[in-house]
Amino acid sequence: MKVVIGTNEEISKQIAEEFIKQVQKKPDSVLGLATGTSPLQVYANMVKANKEGRVSFKKVATFNLDEYIGLEGTHNQSYRYFMNTNLFDHIDIDKKRTHVLKGVGDYEAYAAQYDDEIASFGGIDLQILGIGSDGHIAFNEPGTSFDSLTHVAELAESTIVDNSRLFNDISEVPTKAVTMGLKSIMNAKKIVLIATGINKAKAIKNLLKGEKTEEVPCSILQDHPDCTIYVDEAAYSLCK
Ligand code: F6R
Repeated sequence: MKVVIGTNEEISKQIAEEFIKQVQKKPDSVLGLATGTSPLQVYANMVKANKEGRVSFKKVATFNLDEYIGLEGTHNQSYRYFMNTNLFDHIDIDKKRTHVLKGVGDYEAYAAQYDDEIASFGGIDLQILGIGSDGHIAFNEPGTSFDSLTHVAELAESTIVDNSRLFNDISEVPTKAVTMGLKSIMNAKKIVLIATGINKAKAIKNLLKGEKTEEVPCSILQDHPDCTIYVDEAAYSLCK
């Protein structure tokens, strides 16, 4: 794994440039996308580049990592809504080629065929990840099998607490989600992970200096052949 250290502004720009280069080189790239606070500036930079005419997303396909169970795509905390409002509504993407797991209706059936659908598009060329304070990636919490594909998952208590900042009350945070599995993520050809702030420092230490164990889901990335970890000083602070 490669490590890049910079301010949130610097690393977000660098990751956005990775996406832009990827799409310039292969206009029909398959992009793996994340939600949460971490990728917000990355998406803002991608929107800017698209508006400036530096890159077109017309032919790309996207697959998102996860979705809360129980939230319609129109709910303002659903990950479909997040993607539309933070990225898709502002770029020239074909929304029919954007894929976000379903959180309602036949969500289990959709989850069961998600990995095959990704494969039918040729697999993910470039995947962005955030990381949870407990070391989760997507919603793969500690104890998730390294062999997992897309599945229904229970959120850890610490994740519910972390994510409650975005809801009116902690009781409104869904307790379950559909998520790509750890094996699904490892199938991506190239991975970039972004982590900022002291709340992520322990997870980053476990990722970069710890052993590979299912108790630390992100540690599976140690085996990925092309994975770069982008951090700010605070997130990197326990690695020195
Ligand atoms: C979101 C996702 C999660 C987040 C993680 C960090 O699609 O997969 O694993 O990346 O919970 O969230 P933030 O960036 O809000 O700290």
